[in-house]
Amino acid sequence: MTTTNTGQGTRKVPLLDLRPQNEPLQAEIEAAIGAVMRSQHYILGADAKAFEQDMAAWLGVPHAIGCANGSDALVLALMAAGVGPGDEVAVPSFTFFATAGAVSRVGATPVFLDIDPLTFNLDPAALDEAAGRHPRLKAVIPVHLFGGAADMDPILATAARHGWSVIEDGAQSVGAAYKGKPCFGLGHMATLSFFPSKNLGAFGDAGMVTTTSNELAVLLAALRVHGCREKYKHEWIGFNSRMDTLQAAILRVKLRHLAEWTSARQRNAARYQEILGAAGLPITLPQPAPWQTNHVWNQFVIRSPRRDELKAHLTAAGIGTEIYYPISLHRQPCYLPLGYAEGSLPESERTCREVLALPVHSGLNEGDIEYVAGAIRSFF
Ligand SMILES: Cc1ncc(COP(=O)(O)O)c(C=O)c1O
Repeated sequence: MTTTNTGQGTRKVPLLDLRPQNEPLQAEIEAAIGAVMRSQHYILGADAKAFEQDMAAWLGVPHAIGCANGSDALVLALMAAGVGPGDEVAVPSFTFFATAGAVSRVGATPVFLDIDPLTFNLDPAALDEAAGRHPRLKAVIPVHLFGGAADMDPILATAARHGWSVIEDGAQSVGAAYKGKPCFGLGHMATLSFFPSKNLGAFGDAGMVTTTSNELAVLLAALRVHGCREKYKHEWIGFNSRMDTLQAAILRVKLRHLAEWTSARQRNAARYQEILGAAGLPITLPQPAPWQTNHVWNQFVIRSPRRDELKAHLTAAGIGTEIYYPISLHRQPCYLPLGYAEGSLPESERTCREVLALPVHSGLNEGDIEYVAGAIRSFF
């Protein structure tokens, strides 16, 4: 139970509470950790291999390559796609920093594009339009933000016309589907994060790249160990982004429960939509687009022009919320030298002013949802 009663009848509903999912698994996880300790194999190894196979089967993709975190997964994918200095990569401006940071880390330049305000994801029309202005574009990274798939068909069509690589950033969307097809096999490569707050979270950092290509799978597996297929023979210049054996062992245990945790998130999102939708409030509720056939609700993000006041009201009521994300990437201090003016990507900028993430994690109960919804109602 995540709900605590403070004695005055006041609930506390944190944005995220991992105890309800981790505590029932404690014995199983401790056994997995003990087995790793006894094996004395702490980097990659049998557990990482087994977890890669489990994930590939779960996601329905032929290859899954574990690595140190979701940011490195993007760097590895860009390196495998041959992206480097002088190249440009199209990214949505409304996403977590790592999507663009990875582009800069390989020496390429991000081209920031606006989003579809209804899904928070890359606007395919903006991508099509950018193609004419950016002859050095070599790849695009559509992000499946908050658990909902980006509109991949038009993005894939534009990319195919120009010969670009497509890397799905699925850090927040393990299990999401697009028009009935699982994400993570739609483009050339896709990336995952197992940061603790993700739907499948490790006890630390971990990440993964998936691909349908046998050649890319070999290259990715080598790039994460300094470009080696054979020990001490460096065919490519990679870096160290190995997955910890302990994280893989823990994630293997947790993966067996991911489907049930995802269903709980979906139930919670549906209840918010039901209660808040019926209340007719001046807020915009997130509604999956027709192509988002399995939205996995890593975040449940509402919009309100009075977002900051609403956040303060919910904080006073003991409800955890967060602003994902307060500043568009094209207006981040480190990217100001690229010259994107304020107002140049208006949907992304307006979204940053209006969004508020509510608790939606799998440990919430019906009373928690009603309490959060009631607190929102009482604000308006
Ligand atoms: C959209 C997106 N991309 C990439 C990342 C990077 O993942 P990590 O934190 O595992 O490096 C995250 C994680 O926060 C993310 O949300």
